[in-house]
Formats: sequence, structure tokens, C-alpha cells
Amino acid sequence: MSYYDANRDRFLEGLKAFLRIPSISTLPEHQPDIRRAAEFVRDELQQAGLDGVELIEGPGNPLVYGEWLGAPGKPTLLLYGHYDVQPPDPLEEWKSPPFEPEIRGDNIYARGACDDKGQTYILIKAVEGFLKTEGKLPVNVRFLIEGEEEYGGKHIEAYVASKPARLQADAAVICDTEMFAPGLPTLCVGLRGIVYLELEVRGAGHDLHSGVYGGVAPNPIQAIAEILTALKDRDGHILIPGFYDRVRPPSPEERAAWARLPFNEEEYKSKEMEVSELVGEPEIPVLERVWARPTLEVHGIRGGFTGEGAKTVIPARATAKISMRLVADQSPQEALEQFRAAVQKVRPRGVSAEVRLIHGAAPSLVNPANPFIQASAKAMSEVFGKETVYIRSGGSIPIVGAFNQHLGIPSVLMGFGLPDDNLHAPNEKFHLPNFFRGIEAMARYFRLLGEQ
Ligand code: BES
Ligand code: ZN
Repeated sequence: MSYYDANRDRFLEGLKAFLRIPSISTLPEHQPDIRRAAEFVRDELQQAGLDGVELIEGPGNPLVYGEWLGAPGKPTLLLYGHYDVQPPDPLEEWKSPPFEPEIRGDNIYARGACDDKGQTYILIKAVEGFLKTEGKLPVNVRFLIEGEEEYGGKHIEAYVASKPARLQADAAVICDTEMFAPGLPTLCVGLRGIVYLELEVRGAGHDLHSGVYGGVAPNPIQAIAEILTALKDRDGHILIPGFYDRVRPPSPEERAAWARLPFNEEEYKSKEMEVSELVGEPEIPVLERVWARPTLEVHGIRGGFTGEGAKTVIPARATAKISMRLVADQSPQEALEQFRAAVQKVRPRGVSAEVRLIHGAAPSLVNPANPFIQASAKAMSEVFGKETVYIRSGGSIPIVGAFNQHLGIPSVLMGFGLPDDNLHAPNEKFHLPNFFRGIEAMARYFRLLGEQ
């Protein structure tokens, strides 16, 4: 029996302990939990047998580092994951509490089960298996696990930019994406970037009686609605001047490969999303819309009266949280400038508008012909017993662009999540067979790279 088979129960207990820590990076009151999660990862790396294990303190949540560099002449992999999670709300929709992991059927349910504690744990346990049984790895590894991915924190990027020599590697390996379908080994070769911002609109100097002043007073919430509808038409085309100029269309081969994927639009709509109709650019196929086209979305509007009952007020100010997802070759800086200019152009009379950047990250695209991607595809195919497919994803993993920019390395996105894992939503889960196969696939990958 292999080490991985013999230790399944222990791995599950360890994962549960990790999942019990509510390490929500965007809520300041969870700072002690962030530290506990970082220390948990540190202890796991230590226990797995890595060298130089430490918490790296800096402007933000701690990074966790550990290395094993005992394979001279073999490739070095930078293994990345994140120990922070999204907030669990709305709590009442969870069937079991978000930070009390529960196994039901083949799945473990908890916030972070898939994104990204379960997947980070895959990397740790794959390495542990080699060190505990053979005392060595077929490749060199450096772990760099962060705790601010879910809110776009900049600690890791600052560290990567300042310490390229310490992080020297040939490729990064990230388990933080999804497989296209259950049982279908998948490599993700493209991620969208993001610009997340806050739009503040001000009208009168103070709130006004809507009867006394209604008809002459500018209304900032109405203005936000008008700005939004002027920036995107009803068919999902973004009307910001110049916005699409740098969008690189997928190649004909990539389009053809996407068309061959087992995609059922009816199920996608009715089961996965529970919507009656898909929206967005009608002339563009669905997968291309989510993988290779930029977006403009409003996440929330704050302002005026939202309590129980009624209050007749014209608010003096309102704010909106807005993001744009970007695709290659758009840049976050340019998109932000274009957004700012467009807002000033369409801003209605009588209000001022200010745009503040909250965070931004570049889109990324890797060439599937890269040997590190090819070896990964082979390992995945061997373990899952099927040909590996190449997809992109509409989500963002900000560090991928930074690894490319500052370390000059590609990222191998070996994801083991499933489309119905409910990332960022109630009842997040991780498919346990994928957890164990993920560990196996990662071990196989290390072995293949060591043999090359
Ligand atoms: N793991 C996700 C990104 C992801 C999800 C990639 C599904 C591929 C498939 C990641 O943790 C995430 O959610 N990132 C944020 C980043 C943002 C806050 C900067 C995102 O995409 O919203
Ligand atoms: Zn994630």
C-alpha cells in the first residue's frame, strides 16, 4: 500500500483542522485566524520535512515559505496556494456550518474546502509523501503560500518583486482552478485579470426632502444607474472608448478545441447557475464570453435609505463597487484610466464622480506547448485515465502575472475543483476523490519532471 493510501484518514483529519480556521482575509476581525492559518501551514510544511520553513512578515498577512533543494540539476518548482478564504455569508443558506467541515457522500463541505485550502493541501501532502518514504524529491521545490489572495492584497507581489533570487524557479505550480467536468483531467492556460474599484457620486451638500426638492435635486443613486447603463449596453457590449482595443481573440485552433469540450448549455444554465437565460454578447460563444472577453460588473450599491419602512430622502451621496475582468493583452492601469475618462464623459448633470482603485491584477495566458505544461498534462492523463483538455478560466489569480513579470516563469494551473463546488458561495465543497487523485497526480508530475 502506498504512503498516500495508508494515510488517507490522517490527511482528511489534517484538512478538517485547516478548514476549521475561519481565515477570512477581507474582514479585519479575523486577523487572529489569519495568523493561526499561516502557522498551521508553517507547521504542516515543517512536519512534511521541508527546510527553511518560516513565516515571512511584511505589509499584510504573513507568507509561508519552505523549501527542499536537494535535487541538483533537476527543475525547481515554486508551489503556490492561499490559506485565506472568502466570507461565508449568507450563513442561513449553509446546510452545515461553514467552519465545521462535514463529509456528506463524496464531498467535504466547508468554506475554503476547494478554494483553496483543500487544493493547497494537495501540494503539501504530495511533497510529504516523497520525503517520508524516500527521504528525497525527484525535483526541487519552494513553497510560497499567501493569505491575501481573496482580497487582492499586495504583500506577496511586493515580496516576489523584491526577492527574485530567493524564489528562483523554472515554473510555478498552482492548484486553485477547476476541472472542466468530473473525471476530465484539465489544465487551465489562461486567467482573466481584474480592476476592482469604487465609484463615489455626490449630489447636494446634504440629504434633501424628496417632496420639497424632488424634481430639481440631483440624485446620486439615479446617477450611478445612468452611468452604469451608459457604460454597458443591454447586449453586454462595454461602451468604454478603447476598452476592446487590446483584446486578443483566441486562435482558430483554440476556438475549435473549446467547441469540442463536453459543454451542455442547458445544464450549465439550469443546474449549475440556476438561471432562465444567459446574457452578454450574443454573437460570441458562451465559453469564449467567460474565458476570453472582458466584463464590467457592479457588485453593490450603497446609499440612501435601505432600512425597514419608508423614508422620503434624496441622498447626498452614493457609492458603487464595480469590477472589470480583463483578458490578454489588456492592462489594469489602462482599463482604469479608460473607465475614469468614460465616467466623466457620461456623468449626469449636477453630480460629481470619483473613481478609487481597490485592487488590480493583470490577465495571464501561458503557452500549452511549454514543457512544464506538457509534463503536467501527461501526469494528469495517466492518473485520470483520459486525455487532458486545455481550458481557460474567467477567474483571477493575481500572482500568476507577477510570477511571469518578476521571475520570468510560467504557471502550471493544475486544478482539481469541480464546476459545482460553489466557490465563494454557500455550501462550498471539495470532491474527495479529486483530493486524493490530485495528490497522486501531483506526485506523478514530480516523478515525470525528475525523469526528464
Ligand atoms: N481560485 C480562485 C480563482 C479561480 C476560480 C480560478 C475558479 C479558476 C477557476 C481565486 O481564489 C479567486 O477567487 N480569486 C479572486 C481574485 C480577486 C479577488 C483578485 C477572483 O477571481 O475573484
Ligand atoms: Zn482561490
